[in-house]
Amino acid sequence: MNQLQRITALKDQTEFSLYAPTQDSQQTELQNLSTVAVHAGEAREKYGSAITDPIFCSSTFTFTDTQAVIDYIEQKQTRAEYGRYGSPGEKVVETKLATLDGAEDAVLFSSGMAAVTALLLTKLQSGDEVIFFDECYHRTRQFCTERLGRLGVISHQVPTGDYHAMEEAINGNTRLLISESPTNPHLSCIDVARFAEIGHRNDVETVIDATLATPCNLKPIDLGVDYVLHSATKYLGGHNDLLAGSIAGPAEGLAPIRKTRGLLGSVISPHCTYLLSRGLKTLELRMDRHNQNGLEIARFLENHPRISRVFYPGIESHPSYRLATKQMSGFGGLVTFEVANADWRQTADVVDAVKIPRIGPSLGGAESLIEQPLVMSYYECTAEQRAAFGITDNMIRIALGIENTTDLVDDLAQALDG
Ligand SMILES: Cc1ncc(COP(=O)(O)O)c(C=O)c1O
Repeated sequence: MNQLQRITALKDQTEFSLYAPTQDSQQTELQNLSTVAVHAGEAREKYGSAITDPIFCSSTFTFTDTQAVIDYIEQKQTRAEYGRYGSPGEKVVETKLATLDGAEDAVLFSSGMAAVTALLLTKLQSGDEVIFFDECYHRTRQFCTERLGRLGVISHQVPTGDYHAMEEAINGNTRLLISESPTNPHLSCIDVARFAEIGHRNDVETVIDATLATPCNLKPIDLGVDYVLHSATKYLGGHNDLLAGSIAGPAEGLAPIRKTRGLLGSVISPHCTYLLSRGLKTLELRMDRHNQNGLEIARFLENHPRISRVFYPGIESHPSYRLATKQMSGFGGLVTFEVANADWRQTADVVDAVKIPRIGPSLGGAESLIEQPLVMSYYECTAEQRAAFGITDNMIRIALGIENTTDLVDDLAQALDG
């Protein structure tokens, strides 16, 4: 084989469509979560006969001739052009996420906040109004009030779960209703179907940040919501080793959001795309353990004499219990609790005494993490501001990983009893 024949043979090998989900990708037949997570969006035959998708370390994607450029621009061909507008591996993971969320399409971003801000910047303009449930992720609310507020967007916050207040705040300028479910750190759940119905009846689009739930535990789109958002940094990636975000929803609505991403440059890196794809393949297995650890630890804490309050939607004492059992199939690995009669220092002593969870923000990875919200995220707030957020001095948040359940219970027991 001479050099020219070798190059031609190599070119033939790359003829598989690595960008668009190929006809032989199985996403349409796939139903069950783990099968979708492993196979959706993936071509059956891949470059070099590899079973995994390659990491495309390429900032640009070339064309065979001028006609190929024109075909691409006239949208006769789905393919990559320049890295800021997307890359081949990304499309595979977007198809997985869209299928998992039961949506037409999904767009990936460099972080959860990149996803949120692209959506808000696309949907809102001066004079528009947005309404939040007030336990929604605080950085999302901050972006709206502080940054979009300067550009003439008006934000309203209503108490989480107060559907009448939400509906009363709607007027002719309202463009978006936004909520998280469950919320962080209080694990409040909102009635997603009712929230979606309010949006539809008033012709306002609805967004649920389902980061804490994942598609394993909650399907907001099946319940009528327009867009579902995830910080893929958390459970979807699952290994505390990447930052990413996604929005799933109608293809037509996502197209301009994708364009905003191209303008902002908040595209996911090829390496993170690979890590996310790899993490997603074990999503259901990992979520089973996160759900088990969450429930067992919540029950253990509830019965511990040093604990005065536990926030976990899977236990009956939580105000969202009924709703959560109705609309969710598991409750995740995040548990918040309060140490009885403890000041902030005595509470910090409990945090410092645990041996398995590491002290740190975030959640959803294999490794358990623990934090005292007062110190970790709300240290610079005044006591009044913390009270308004419902953050108490004796509050601890534990993001359970996938370690052995008994080991985690024993560890918390020694930290509380020691
Ligand atoms: C519920 C929720 N939404 C969005 C985000 C933002 O995600 P990221 O940190 O990936 O930007 C976070 C991060 O903590 C979160 O907890």
